[in-house]
This record gives sequence, C-alpha cells and structure tokens, in this order.
Amino acid sequence: MKTILVTGGTGYIGSHTVVSLLENNYKVVILDNLCNSKISTLARIEKISSKTPDFYQGDIRDATLLASIFKNHPISGVIHFAGLKAVGESQKEPLKYYENNVTGSITLLNEMFKANVKTFVFSSSATVYGEPGSTQYEEGMSTIPINVYGRTKFMIEEVLRDCAQANPDFSVACLRYFNPVGAHQSGLIGENPVGTPNNLMPYVGQIAMGKLPMLKVFGNDYPTPDGTGLRDYIHVDDLAKGHVLALSYLEKNSGALTVNLGTGKPYSVLEMIAAFEKVSGKNIPYEFVDRRSGDLAEYYANPSLAKKLLYWQAEHGIERMCEDTWRFYQQVELSHS
Ligand SMILES: NC(=O)c1ccc[n+]([C@@H]2O[C@H](COP(=O)([O-])OP(=O)(O)OC[C@H]3O[C@@H](n4cnc5c(N)ncnc54)[C@H](O)[C@@H]3O)[C@@H](O)[C@H]2O)c1
Repeated sequence: MKTILVTGGTGYIGSHTVVSLLENNYKVVILDNLCNSKISTLARIEKISSKTPDFYQGDIRDATLLASIFKNHPISGVIHFAGLKAVGESQKEPLKYYENNVTGSITLLNEMFKANVKTFVFSSSATVYGEPGSTQYEEGMSTIPINVYGRTKFMIEEVLRDCAQANPDFSVACLRYFNPVGAHQSGLIGENPVGTPNNLMPYVGQIAMGKLPMLKVFGNDYPTPDGTGLRDYIHVDDLAKGHVLALSYLEKNSGALTVNLGTGKPYSVLEMIAAFEKVSGKNIPYEFVDRRSGDLAEYYANPSLAKKLLYWQAEHGIERMCEDTWRFYQQVELSHS
C-alpha cells in the first residue's frame, strides 16, 4: 500500500482528495497548519471512509518537521494543496503570499528530494492564464497572471518544470483547476470558509441558510447571453478523482505534465442562482452592482488533455453541484447547533 503526503489535507479540496485516496487504498499522511481549516474535518474524513489518516499540525515552511515526516513514513508521493488562495488579500499582502505559497513549496520540495521522493502533484489554477485572448483555455496558451495569487501559482509551476528538467526521474503534475464547487455526497465535508465567503457558491449557500441577506451580482452588462459572468464550475468530487488519476499517471511517466481540470461547460451567475433555488426550494435575493475590476466576462477549460492522458472527465453537472452544497450547508448548521 502506497503512502501519500497530502499538504493542506484538511482544507476544502484536500479533504475530498484524502477521501478519494483512502477509497483507492492509499495510506495518507496529512500536514496542515489549520490556518484555513478545522481539526474536526479529520473525524469527518474517518466517518466517511472508516479509515484514519495520520495527521501533523504544522507548516510546510518548517523544514525540520518535514524531514521528520519523510523519515517516519514510507512516503512515495506528495499532493500539495497547502497555500493561501484569496486573490484580493494577495494584492494587499503580496509578501505573505510569496512567502507562504512560493517559499513554502520550495522548502517542501527540498525536503522531499532529500528523502528521495520523486512524485508530486500540485494545485495550480486557471488564474495562471491571465487573459490569454480566448475564452476557452488550453494548456499551451500564454500564461500572464494578472494578480499576486496567480503569480505565486505560476512561479511554483515554473520551479516544478525546472526541477523536472534537472531531474529526469522527477514526475510532476500541475493541475490547473477552474471553479471548484459542491461537497461530498455525505454532506460531511465541503467548503465552509471562515468569515464572509469570497466565492459564489458558499455565498449563495449562506443566503439560503438565512445567514446572509442578499447576493451582489457584479455586472449584468457583459457580452454573455444573460449579461452575467460565465465560469466553468467543477464538482470537488470530480476534482478529487483527478488527483488520484494524476498519481497513477505519474507512476508510469516522468517529466512535467500541465493539465486543465474543468468541465468545459460554463454557467452564468444567474443560471447558478436558478439551479440553487430549484434544489433548495429557497429564494436567493440578488441585486446587480458594477463589474468588479479584474473579473473576466467568460472563461472555461478545454479539458481534452486530461481526458486523453489521465482518462479523466467531469461527471457531475450543475444540479448535483447545488444539491451536494445544499446538503452540506444543512448538515453543518445541524452539527453546530
Ligand atoms: N478553491 C479554489 O477555488 C481553488 C482554485 C484553484 C486552485 N486552488 C488551490 O488549491 C489548493 C487548495 O485549495 P482549497 O480551496 O482547498 O483551499 P483551503 O484553504 O480550503 O485549503 C488549503 C489548506 O492549506 C492549509 N495551509 C495553508 N498554508 C499552509 C502552510 N503554510 N502550511 C500548512 N498548511 C497550510 C490551510 O489550513 C488549508 O487547510 C490551494 O493551493 C489553492 O490555491 C483552489
């Protein structure tokens, strides 16, 4: 049985991937400093999978801790989720983001190489593309990220490609996610951000629960069918499966792989609201406000490379994304009351 180190494994995408790994008979060691997740997620992972991952509360910038984790566990690969991800905050506090995301990744890579571990899956993002001049993004397109967060992701990708160039036996996959939404079907794990959510789906979920009064829709004059922005929403469960398939690919192939994980089918803000209203039976009040600077009218993935190389494609549609999110919100509410 192979052992995988999952950094950021109690976070939103990390926890779903840990469940997927356990279902596929991997052993899992999680390293997370809990800056954006809760320890209670571990018990929820155990409840879903009836298996217990090893857990270290600590930071990816702590080389001593990393060295001891690599020494104490027969780790064969790393899936690296740990990172800060708020675009607005990254613009205000760039050093915090470069330090945590870029320096942290380099510390992790150094310790991993010292332990002779040569398989790495990295959480990259569609934000690395910036504005490539087309609405459907392909991996070969230009990458000029337009914010600090996106630049941290792009820098790490470049570091990884350089490492693959220098070490012929290093296997790395940079997975460029589009817009992850949804939750585990059990309703036990999902995205439950601290404070006011930055993303559409958790925001809508909190309105449906009566926690927030109204959604601000940024812009209704985009050149899209209903005037609101179009995004490629991807169910977190599909995303998690993509990581397990990427690991299998890396077991057979060395070098650097860069691949989009998206559905290829964008939905507008108004379509998302309508779908959520339908599954929840709740009214989601909204108002149109000015466009937000830096937002694009439309972008979505060309996911054909992931299908060709990883045999991966998204299975869940918009209705399932909303159903699972809604179930999660209702359960979180229950477990906190
Ligand atoms: N959710 C998205 O919309 C999205 C889109 C594209 C890429 N990503 C990337 O995917 C990864 C996971 O995202 P998520 O949505 O699950 O975020 P998340 O915040 O829920 O999970 C990240 C986890 O990493 C931990 N962490 C952060 N810095 C750390 C450090 N220095 N040491 C140890 N642990 C640390 C946090 O406590 C958290 O549990 C991130 O790298 C993010 O940038 C996310």
